[in-house]
Amino acid sequence: MSVKIQEMRIDIITVLPEMLEGFVNQSILARAQKKGLVEIYLHNLRDYTKDKHRRVDDYPFGGFAGMVMQCQPIDDCISRLKAERHYDHVIFTTPDGEQFNQSMANELSLAENIIILCGHYKGVDYRIREHLITKEISIGDYVLTGGELAAAAITDAVVRIVPGVIGDEQSALSDSFQDNLLAAPVYTRPADYKGWCVPEVLLSGHEAKIKEWELSQSYERTRRLRPDLLNKNTPSHDKD
Ligand code: ADE
Repeated sequence: MSVKIQEMRIDIITVLPEMLEGFVNQSILARAQKKGLVEIYLHNLRDYTKDKHRRVDDYPFGGFAGMVMQCQPIDDCISRLKAERHYDHVIFTTPDGEQFNQSMANELSLAENIIILCGHYKGVDYRIREHLITKEISIGDYVLTGGELAAAAITDAVVRIVPGVIGDEQSALSDSFQDNLLAAPVYTRPADYKGWCVPEVLLSGHEAKIKEWELSQSYERTRRLRPDLLNKNTPSHDKD
């Protein structure tokens, strides 16, 4: 029985497509697109404005500081994309969104089509968030100059776990955070570099002992560096 590999499409709407151009066409993202597993399209929001000066922002009502992204170009761009296919998520990158994490990346990687709207200036006219956005995502409690880096982080984390993108499937599954545990340390040749030695057990060839060592290292590092993760449905081992 042959299993049809589902291709994923990500449409990123931005006022700075040049900032993302290099990023989406490098390394694993480039390979994923060449393999036909993912399609990534960048849309310049300015191409959708009806303003003769190609402006996409205006002053906020109420006399607040900063500029606000207007409804019309965003609505037109999203409407055009939606007229062509169904989208599972229309994401807005914003510091007041839900905090991005591995389980969100896992969930998004199952989608067929995603739109990511990069926020800019003081924000976006709230009516866009109320009527068109289905998911608001923050990549951390700090404010970036725009949502492009957030869109890049989300795209990268999602695409790398799409089946077939990373050759060795096991390597994506054993990432830090996949099971709320930090990954165990890894080493490569030489086994002794300037007297800095690789743990003996890794050279033993004893598979069960190596697995046990890996798990205990994961727990030790998680307990020491990210104890908060241990309460989040961590598989039982020696949590305490
Ligand atoms: N735009 C500005 N800061 C951001 C953040 N921390 N996460 C997502 N989008 C943002």
